[in-house]
Amino acid sequence: MDTVAITGGTGHLGRELVRLLKPTHQVRILTRRPGTDPELEWVQGDLTTGQGVPETVAGAHTLVHAATFSPVAQRGFMHPVDFWRSPPDVDVDGTSRLLEAAAAAEVRHFLYVSIVGVDRPAMPYLRLKHTAEELVSVADVPWSIVRATLFHWLLDRMLNRATRLPVLPLPGALPVQPVDTRDFAEYLAECIRNGAVGRREDYGGPEVLTLREALRAWQRARGRDRRVFNVPAPKRLRRIATDMTCPGGRRGKITWDDWLHSHPAE
Ligand SMILES: NC(=O)c1ccc[n+]([C@@H]2O[C@H](COP(=O)([O-])OP(=O)(O)OC[C@H]3O[C@@H](n4cnc5c(N)ncnc54)[C@H](OP(=O)(O)O)[C@@H]3O)[C@@H](O)[C@H]2O)c1
Repeated sequence: MDTVAITGGTGHLGRELVRLLKPTHQVRILTRRPGTDPELEWVQGDLTTGQGVPETVAGAHTLVHAATFSPVAQRGFMHPVDFWRSPPDVDVDGTSRLLEAAAAAEVRHFLYVSIVGVDRPAMPYLRLKHTAEELVSVADVPWSIVRATLFHWLLDRMLNRATRLPVLPLPGALPVQPVDTRDFAEYLAECIRNGAVGRREDYGGPEVLTLREALRAWQRARGRDRRVFNVPAPKRLRRIATDMTCPGGRRGKITWDDWLHSHPAE
């Protein structure tokens, strides 16, 4: 059995990928807090310091790099600071460390998980993801890069936080194409089988919704009735939101509505 090492294997996406790979691969996970499943190899480490990185890549055929630190995702809402800085130690410094170690260990496939729309990064966090892609694409290790649109769990978390406001101003016409981590994990498993091929096709959810439609479905499923008033979206924001969709790419099957009805409120 080939060993697939995964960073971010404890995250929303990583857990789904681990579940898919377990029957057919030896799966190794780099994490700050190892779990207890004895069928997995746990490496305690931290990408911000490099602890555990050599052990993670040693003897691995494929390394899936899905660890990230997004302050917005952690909080579930934007803070003004997010528009001028985002800590680079996991997404850029950690990626460099992994690439160097993977090249030294002769890993055959470095698969980097990225985000649709990072070519014209609108926020510092997205710039970090773009920089990481650039590092991967010139590294001395065979690679693939695969980008996805916004995950369902994160849209759910953001709407949950936003609707705590007494009245919600919403640029309702903005497009979103939320995707499920189970669908995307299946695509990643296919990318692992295909080996290192460079940039892969972008991956998005089955439908492009307006933010207004996404919120309406969310309120219905969560039994909420927060008052919303629509605000016009500035042109730049419309461009950013559109860049973060990929209607012409590969699409998952699980819709936002399906996901909401199979996931209780956070
Ligand atoms: N969320 C989205 O909407 C979205 C959309 C498109 C693409 N993506 C990309 O998909 C990937 C997975 O995202 P996700 O939403 O599943 O992430 P997530 O649930 O927020 O999980 C983050 C993961 O990163 C790991 N991590 C964070 N800091 C670390 C550190 N210092 N050292 C080692 N590991 C660290 C965490 O592991 P431990 O806490 O166990 O250490 C955890 O497994 C990321 O590359 C992300 O950019 C996300």
